[in-house]
Amino acid sequence: MSEHRSSSPQAEERAASEVPEAPVFTPRKNGQAQSVSDELAAWMRTGWADTEIRDLEPLEQAAYTAKRRAALSARFPGERLIIPSGRLKTRSNDTEYPFRASCDYVYLTGDQSDDGCLVFEPRPGGGHDTTVYLRPRSNRDNGEFWLDGHGELWTGRRHSLGESARLLGLATHDVRELADVLRAAPPAPTRILRGHDPALERVAAGLPLPADSADLGDPAERDEELAVTLHDHRLVKDEWEVAQLQRAVDSTVLGFGDVAAVLHKARATSERYIEGTFFLRARVEGNDVGYGTIAASGPNATTLHWTRNDGPVRAGDLLLLDAGVETTTLYTADVTRTLPVSGRFTPVQRRVYDLVHAAQEAALAVVAPGRPFTEYHEAAQRVLAEGLVEWGLLEGPVDRVVELGLQRRYTLHGTGHMLGLDVHDCAKARTEVHLHGDLQPGMVLTVEPGLYFQPDDLTVPEELRGIGVRIEDDVLVTAEGNRVLSSALPRSADAVEAWLAERLPGTD
Ligand code: GLY
Ligand code: MN
Ligand code: MN
Repeated sequence: MSEHRSSSPQAEERAASEVPEAPVFTPRKNGQAQSVSDELAAWMRTGWADTEIRDLEPLEQAAYTAKRRAALSARFPGERLIIPSGRLKTRSNDTEYPFRASCDYVYLTGDQSDDGCLVFEPRPGGGHDTTVYLRPRSNRDNGEFWLDGHGELWTGRRHSLGESARLLGLATHDVRELADVLRAAPPAPTRILRGHDPALERVAAGLPLPADSADLGDPAERDEELAVTLHDHRLVKDEWEVAQLQRAVDSTVLGFGDVAAVLHKARATSERYIEGTFFLRARVEGNDVGYGTIAASGPNATTLHWTRNDGPVRAGDLLLLDAGVETTTLYTADVTRTLPVSGRFTPVQRRVYDLVHAAQEAALAVVAPGRPFTEYHEAAQRVLAEGLVEWGLLEGPVDRVVELGLQRRYTLHGTGHMLGLDVHDCAKARTEVHLHGDLQPGMVLTVEPGLYFQPDDLTVPEELRGIGVRIEDDVLVTAEGNRVLSSALPRSADAVEAWLAERLPGTD
């Protein structure tokens, strides 16, 4: 970067020319105001091409987001709904975490901008007008585009409001005017999706109510109802969402293949090599990961959310890899395989693996429309309990073990969860349609039984201590039963060994 000289003849010509009057943005760096000469400021305002893109086609998902907005509108007639995308979060000093838009905002708009906000404004005659409030292109007249660290010259070009309108199929408006627009709108009962924009929540709380709406109830409960409704609506995926999830899974499958091919190299470094290898696959395909990769080798596999990934990868150990690519559209996979680092399971490892696999098969057999969500969990738990009783780790009868949940000392977690924009998707959905509801075509969930024998658990035989096994697949409920989206990865012990043999040098 070099400094422009401000004393050139062109500069004088520019200074004399018509430059729109606008206050010069006061740049600050590390708390210090930076001085910018009037000449430079004036020059920076001029000489820029019109880059407006006028022939943008709507995003593929725009037809789907319109239907989703219509469903939400029908659920809350006469009410104003505010769905923020969220704001940048400070990581340290003047650096921020990569921005991740709120799932409900993405679900309803297809947009991923920070500081965005979708507003449903009730129409007097029924229905809603929907508008996305966004930051417009950086202002060149006041220098914001180059003097503000969040200006476009630093962070990249944004879409103009017109471009966003064409892409999203939605009306757009300058987000800096949102608070004023809300305050000037006719009084209406208002709900806001909390947790993403505290400043906007304060604005929403101060908005006037219609004279006849004194009895609306607790605002926090009303807002929670909005959040719950959105998770209810997200439970059943549309065909576009299913395609996104399949893309996420397909890329994840390639990532697992990449890891298999470098297992031998990881032995010289650490679990980070595994994590990095998977991440490379995500990044080279333009994606990200949907959650912190769990690359857990040896006894680390018994720690459910082992994301430190700084342990050794030893020949003879099992590597539990739980990882999922998140697409650019923010749908994530969530897949686990437990792989013998040397390519072959030891007899003890295989025994544990086979039991987890049998539990997964039993669970998959009851993932079907009309079946209770709890059923596949119960099916897996029963198989695991039977095995643990048979091995003498638990005292039978199995019915008693299952009733008291004693197997959970070794199975630890539920057998699965919904999957979508969030890895643990739709967690706020009403119990009666989710945890105590029936499966429906279009739901996507994980099936992920596991067994974990802690290294210091004196209740298990020594040979089992430090072994952790999980097998996790992503499954679509179909009209007929289910489709395993991650079926391209091997599941049985034999299939895993054969798959590794094709990838791992030095095994046969
Ligand atoms: N990756 C977290 C889970 O499997 O739920
Ligand atoms: Mn997982
Ligand atoms: Mn999972």
